[in-house]
Amino acid sequence: MSNVDQRPIILTGDRPTGQLHLGHFVGSLRSRVGLQDSHHQHLLLADAQALTDNADNPDKVRRNILEVALDYLAVGIDPTKTTICVQSCLPALNELTMLYLNFVTVARLERNPTIKSEIQMRGFERDIPAGFLCYPVAQAADITAFKATVVPVGEDQIPMIEQTNEIVRRVNRQIGQDLLPECKALLSNMARLPGFDGKAKMSKSLGNTIVLNASDKDIKKAVNAMYTDPNHLRIEDPGQVEGNIVFTYLDAFDPNKEEVEELKAHYRRGGLGDGTVKKRLEGVLKELITPIRERREELAKDPDYIMDVLRQGTDKCRLITQQTLDEVKDGLGLFKF
Ligand code: TRP
Repeated sequence: MSNVDQRPIILTGDRPTGQLHLGHFVGSLRSRVGLQDSHHQHLLLADAQALTDNADNPDKVRRNILEVALDYLAVGIDPTKTTICVQSCLPALNELTMLYLNFVTVARLERNPTIKSEIQMRGFERDIPAGFLCYPVAQAADITAFKATVVPVGEDQIPMIEQTNEIVRRVNRQIGQDLLPECKALLSNMARLPGFDGKAKMSKSLGNTIVLNASDKDIKKAVNAMYTDPNHLRIEDPGQVEGNIVFTYLDAFDPNKEEVEELKAHYRRGGLGDGTVKKRLEGVLKELITPIRERREELAKDPDYIMDVLRQGTDKCRLITQQTLDEVKDGLGLFKF
C-alpha cells in the first residue's frame, strides 16, 4: 500500500444532547461502522452546534459528549480507524464559518427546510438565536475543513449538504480554483426509523426512543407498547403490514429477511397474533442491544480512556482543519501573520 491515503474522506457527526438511540443506529451509526475500513473517517461531536439551541444548558452538552462517545465505541467505531473529535476545540472551524457567512444570504438560511421545521418545533418564532439560523454554515465549515466528499447522515440533513455545496461553489468561484470538494449525503437504506409509538420519527423530545443501552425490561416495555394494526382484533383476522411498526422494526433489525417475509404473508392471511410477532421482535432487539450495552458498561468504567481518545482525535483534526483554513485564506489572499 502506498503511504498516501487515497480512501474517500468521510466527515459526519452528532449533536451531543442525549444518548444515541436505535434511530441513529439505523440512520447512520451502523453504516459508519462498516465504512471505517474503506474510508478515511472522522466523527465530530458537534457540541458547538448543540449550543445553538442549548445555550442555557452547556452542562448538558458537556456531559453528553462522553455519552455519545461511549455510544460510538460501544457499537464498534474503532478509534484506531476513525478519528473522533470535539467541535468546540477546533478553532479553525469557527474561522471558516466567519468567512463562509459572507457567501450566504439570510434569505437562503431562512429557506433551509430543516431549519424551518426546527424553528417551528422549538417554538422560536421571531426569537431565533443567530447562531441557530447560521448553523448550516458552520456545518459547511465542518464538512469542508476535512475536505470530506461523503457524509453519512439521516435524511433530515440533506438540506445541509445542499447548502454546503452551494457555499463550496461560491468559495471556489471566488478563489478561482476547485479548492474545496463538493460532498454527497450517504443515506442508509432505512433513513428514518419511526418511534415505537408509530410517530414518524424516533426522537428524544417525543419520548419514543429505544436507547442503545436499553435494559431487557425497557425493550420489552417498548415492544409491548408498539403500534400495530388497530383493525387486527382477533388472531384469525387478516392484518395489515404496511404502517405496522412491529414489521417496520423487523425489516430494520431482523437478520433473517426470508423469515420476516414469511411472517408478513402469514399476518396478511390471518392466523398470526400480534403477541407472536412482538415476541420475535423483542428477541431480535435483545440480541442486538445486549452486546452493545455490555460493551458500553465496560467502557464507562474507564472515563480516562475515553478522554484520551477524544483528546488524541481532536489533536489530529486540529492539524487537518487548520491546513484547510490556511488554504482558504491563501486563496482569498488574506494575511496569515
Ligand atoms: N447536524 C447534525 C445533526 O444534527 C450534526 C452535525 C454537525 C453534522 N456537523 C456535522 C453532521 C457535519 C454531518 C456533518 O445530527
